[in-house]
Amino acid sequence: MHERKIILKIIDYRFNKIANEILSHDEYDKMKMITHHSDNSVYEHSLMVAYYSYLIAYKSNLDWKSCIRGGLLHDFHLYKFEKKHSIALIKDSVKHAINHPKIAYENASKHFDLNSKEKDIIVGHMFPFGLPKSREAWIVSLVDKYIAIFEYCDNAKKSIARSWKKAFAK
Ligand SMILES: [Fe+2]
Ligand SMILES: [Fe+2]
Repeated sequence: MHERKIILKIIDYRFNKIANEILSHDEYDKMKMITHHSDNSVYEHSLMVAYYSYLIAYKSNLDWKSCIRGGLLHDFHLYKFEKKHSIALIKDSVKHAINHPKIAYENASKHFDLNSKEKDIIVGHMFPFGLPKSREAWIVSLVDKYIAIFEYCDNAKKSIARSWKKAFAK
């Protein structure tokens, strides 16, 4: 299996100084191989969530370091949720929404020292299935949803374009 090319790179000294410990970790590198919401990887998704959460937290004078670390690790569950188009889809989706923050936290705490705010960000990010307890956790949870909507729309746009291309090629 060849490594996916990562096109997203954040050029921000303050962000990178905090993010580097996680981004350069071998275990975290596995996130590059797992697609998420779209053709992008969960690595790229998490990088976007961490970066935009950091921008908001920094401007609001909140704990931006925890937003970066919690944002990067919020989906560190290391498996691909396969959506089966069956009657079990809703049940499976709810189960995934409830369980993956706990798995992400277990994985993250194995490899990194997390403070209570970072734990709260990871465990609570799937509101309403989880409950963010800090302002930083709310920021990450809302940014996560905002980014996910963009990724799903992008995915839908690409699959419509693909089916049109196929239809016109006939
Ligand atoms: Fe998530
Ligand atoms: Fe996410």
